[in-house]
Amino acid sequence: MNAKNTDFGTFAQDVMLGLNSTPKTLPSKYFYDAKGDKLFQQIMALPEYYLTRKEYEILEGQHEQILAPILEQDQPFNLVELGAGDGMKTKILLRYLTQKRVEFTYYPVDFSGSVLEGLEDSLAKELPELAVNPIQDTYRDSLKKQIWEDGRPNLILFLGANLGNFGVEEAKNIIDHLRVGTKRGDLVLLGFDLKKNPQTILDAYHDEQGVTREFNMNLLDRINRELNADFDRDSFVHWPTYNPVSGECRSYLVSQKSQIVTIGALNQKFEFEAYESIFTEISKKYSLSEISQLASLGGFHVEENFTDSEGYFADVLWKKH
Ligand code: AVI
Repeated sequence: MNAKNTDFGTFAQDVMLGLNSTPKTLPSKYFYDAKGDKLFQQIMALPEYYLTRKEYEILEGQHEQILAPILEQDQPFNLVELGAGDGMKTKILLRYLTQKRVEFTYYPVDFSGSVLEGLEDSLAKELPELAVNPIQDTYRDSLKKQIWEDGRPNLILFLGANLGNFGVEEAKNIIDHLRVGTKRGDLVLLGFDLKKNPQTILDAYHDEQGVTREFNMNLLDRINRELNADFDRDSFVHWPTYNPVSGECRSYLVSQKSQIVTIGALNQKFEFEAYESIFTEISKKYSLSEISQLASLGGFHVEENFTDSEGYFADVLWKKH
C-alpha cells in the first residue's frame, strides 16, 4: 500500500471533522505513515490475511489469460496502475510482458513520492529495459488528467481490493472516473475481495498476533505524535465487525471508559462516553453480481472474472464499450 495524504493541514482538519462528528470517525487513509506502511507489509504476510496471497495466486497462475485481450489488439499500449505501492504483484505482469518483448509503457500512479521512488529503483534493477513513467497523484485526479493518453490502448490496473476501502457511493464515483478516463476498447483489471464465510473475513481483520490491532491503533499514536494529543491507546479496543448482507467489514476503536482526550494542535478537548466508538475503516466484500453491476455503471462489459482456487478473491477484467 502507499503512504497517503500526509499534509499537516489536511490531517488536522480531517481529524477535527471526524472527531466532531456523531458517530466519531477517522479516515483510514491516515493508517499509512511510515509505521503504518510497515504494519501493512506485516499484515499481508499474516496467516489470516488471505487477500494478498489469493490475488498473487490469480496473477501468477492466470497472467497469460489476463493479458491476452490487450495483447490481441497487437499494438503498443499503456499499462496504468492506480495505487501502485511496491508493485510486488504487478511485477508478475511486467516480467511476462518484458520477456515477450511487447512494446508498452508502465505508468505507476501513487500519491506517495517515496513509494514511487522505491518502485522506480527496484524496477531499474530488475527490469532495466522497461519504460516507466511514474505519476504522483490521486486515483481520481490522475483519471481526470489522463496524462498517459496518446491514442494507444490502455490497460488500467486497480489491484489489491483497494476499491473496498471506499464506501459504496464513493466506489461508484471512482468507477465513474474510470468511465470518463477511458476510451472505447480500453481494458480495466480490478481486484475485489469476495463475500465468503463471515468467520474467515473477520479473522483476517482480527489476527492472533494483533498486528491489525496495532495498525488500527497507529491512528491514535499518529494523532498523539503529529497533533500533540494524549490518547491513551490502552483504553481503546480494536473492534472489527462484518455484516454479511452489505458485505461491509467495518473496524472501530472502542473507548473502554468515559474519558477526555486533548488534541493540542486543534486546541480542543474531545469527550468520549464509556463504550463510545470511532469508526476507522471499511473493507467492503463484493459478490460477482454486484461487481458486474459496477461494470455496467462504468460503461464496461465483463471480459472475464479470474478467481483463485477457493473463490476468495477476484481480479475482474472489463472492456470499455
Ligand atoms: C489496503 N486494503 C485493501 C486493506 C484491506 O484489507 O481493506 C487494508 C487493511 N486493513 C486492515 N487490514 C488490511
